[in-house]
Amino acid sequence: MNKKIKKILKKKNKSKIICLTSYSKNIAAILDKHCDLVLVGDSLGSVLYNYKSTREVTLETMINHSKSVRQGVKKALMVVDMPHNTYRSPKEALKNAKLVMKKTYCDAVKLEGGKKIIPMVRILIKNKIPVMGHLGILPQTEKKFIFKGKRFDERKKIFNEAKLLDDAGVFSIVLECIETKLSKKITNQIKAPTIGIGSSSNCDGQVLVIDDLIGLSQTKFKFVKKYTNVTKIIDKAVNKFKLEVKKKQFPKKKHSFNI
Ligand code: KIV
Repeated sequence: MNKKIKKILKKKNKSKIICLTSYSKNIAAILDKHCDLVLVGDSLGSVLYNYKSTREVTLETMINHSKSVRQGVKKALMVVDMPHNTYRSPKEALKNAKLVMKKTYCDAVKLEGGKKIIPMVRILIKNKIPVMGHLGILPQTEKKFIFKGKRFDERKKIFNEAKLLDDAGVFSIVLECIETKLSKKITNQIKAPTIGIGSSSNCDGQVLVIDDLIGLSQTKFKFVKKYTNVTKIIDKAVNKFKLEVKKKQFPKKKHSFNI
């Protein structure tokens, strides 16, 4: 088994697993110092490309961004989201996941869903491709993003699907916007570590979209905490550049080539 995955598995019930998304090299290199896992999430569709949903993200886009992220991630486990419609059958899943692994040198892939995707999860694991699961809100197939676990039948379905994914051998499961007590029950009753986003501190680890955490995106989700406001910092720097150029204060002699 991949050493980095072993390390993550060992953290269950011991210490929290730190995860963030990255879509490019420079951010990835910063995250690598702090994170156990860096995810190239298909959230890049809305965050970077302004798509209405992640359904528009292609395999080519995921591969290109992942190649860039790979340049920054040395220590953390690197996971790449398999985009919508790239794992509709075991054959399709295997062909596309092999391509992602080969082109990006990532450590694992993430697939969204429960019961329906079990055959795909099984074939990837059988072929030594580590898989991360994703339950709760499933942006690739759902239109309304409402938290999960309000109704008994919904709680039962999500819990059973977590068990199915665990039995199929996923090394971890992202729980997106799942009710607090259900997150606890899943976390306590499966072997794989759970990584929460909007699913309370009951999970084994936490993930956020980096652009949300640093205040680069304008999203206002209940589950996001903005730790800084990079937008303001960039705005101030760019404005200073603009003024200095206009006043001929930049570039100075030291920025120029003189003979
Ligand atoms: O696409 C993504 O960034 C994700 C995380 C939010 C978990 O799936």
